Amino acid sequence: MTKLIIDGKEIDVPPEYTLLQACEAAGAEIPRFCYHERLSIAGNCRMCLVEVKGGPKPVASCAWGVRDCRPGPKGEPPEISTKSPMVKKAREGVMEFLLINHPLDCPICDQGGECDLQDQAMGYGVDTSRFAENKRAVEDKYLGALVKTSMTRCIQCTRCIRFSAEVAGAPEMGATGRGEDMEITTYLEHALTSELQGNLVDICPVGALTSKPYAFAARPWELGKTQSIDVMDGLGSAIRVDTRGREVMRILPRINEAVNEEWISDKTRHVVDGLRTQRLDRPYIREAGKLRAASWTEAFAAIAAKAARTDGKRIGAIAGDLAGVEEMFALKDLLAKYGSTNLAVQGGDAFDPKLGRGAYVFNPTIAGIEQADALLIIGANPRKEAAVFNARIRKRWRAGGFKIGLIGAKADLTYDYDHIGAGTETLGELAAGKHSFSDVLKNAKNPVILVGAGATSRHDGAAILAAAAKLALDVGAVKDGWNGFGVLHET
Ligand code: SF4
Ligand code: FES
Repeated sequence: MTKLIIDGKEIDVPPEYTLLQACEAAGAEIPRFCYHERLSIAGNCRMCLVEVKGGPKPVASCAWGVRDCRPGPKGEPPEISTKSPMVKKAREGVMEFLLINHPLDCPICDQGGECDLQDQAMGYGVDTSRFAENKRAVEDKYLGALVKTSMTRCIQCTRCIRFSAEVAGAPEMGATGRGEDMEITTYLEHALTSELQGNLVDICPVGALTSKPYAFAARPWELGKTQSIDVMDGLGSAIRVDTRGREVMRILPRINEAVNEEWISDKTRHVVDGLRTQRLDRPYIREAGKLRAASWTEAFAAIAAKAARTDGKRIGAIAGDLAGVEEMFALKDLLAKYGSTNLAVQGGDAFDPKLGRGAYVFNPTIAGIEQADALLIIGANPRKEAAVFNARIRKRWRAGGFKIGLIGAKADLTYDYDHIGAGTETLGELAAGKHSFSDVLKNAKNPVILVGAGATSRHDGAAILAAAAKLALDVGAVKDGWNGFGVLHET
């Protein structure tokens, strides 16, 4: 631990902390634009300046390590001030610089009301500018159907570039030009392809990147906010559903370190459209081969009449992936009244409840993947099936010392992996130790065997699942204190 005095308060922090983290630990609020806890440090906005006692000028606290602070002449702990006149003046100066070229179009900006620049200009800026020249203007860029740009508003914090390259694993954003001519763009202005691109809107601290489908739809203070859990994949990301009246306006992520950190996939974010447009809002009855619009009462009468004429045993029901337990139970009850037991759910054939819960859940846990040191993916494309989880795998892979093998169709997963094979025979070879990846698994401390829906939904899904479970036991993936056998469900 390193001792520091921050605003007159003595505090002990780990030596790998930055000054910004140390100041926060001491309860000081440090304004920032480019710094983001989950991205690498850029240190280019200079909003986080603090004063280090004895230093000739303020330092960018996000880019200054605690271990780089020198003690006083008598060995006293380094003294930091976050409220001194020097810091106040420095922040006002930085804010004045930032606003030189920012258009100040808050009344027509979608970020209004939830804009870091707006808030911090209020908190740390001054109410005048000495800049009388023309402001710089930047042409908007085309980034695809989901992210809208107003590039004149960009303050070049490079968060979007770092997010794309580091978290999303699709390094599509970049900067061209230098100084005043610097512009953020995609290569040759092609549309973004990442399945996590919606998060760019959240991390952009100003209104340069906003949500295209949500453009000019509502202001944040008009919205009712409801905490919820996403159902668009098997992950259960924490979300917040923003509504105005009866209408769902947008979906945003909530922080849940155990599941989605602070990201959500585009499927989760933009499912709002599906709630609003092309809904099944009116029933139709087929009469003499033609469909005719009907009321719900008529429709249910038609269903009841038809069901009454049919032998109960010939009635069946399929419950979809998004059906709730209560709905399924009501359906089962209804079928029972007709004397039928033909209720099927989508998928799930490979799982035998007798084997216990551990046979069908993701035992290592989503956050637990960060403790793993080898991963075998069987029949899954985590990037498509659970994009946020894939970002977690990528995060672990970027940290190094993480070997990944794949049995199944080759795909760009945003990280390197050994393509071991595509068929069930490969699993047999691995089990027999005929492939070098079995040694990787055996030598790993916390190996993970991930079985996806591509394997479990096959006709021989149960056999593959059993073989994968046996492999997990053989390579030591299931032991005291670690269960590395995980089933990744699509829903
Ligand atoms: S577009 Fe937004 S996130 Fe990207 S550099 Fe500009 S201000 Fe930062
Ligand atoms: S937050 Fe420190 S320089 Fe931008």
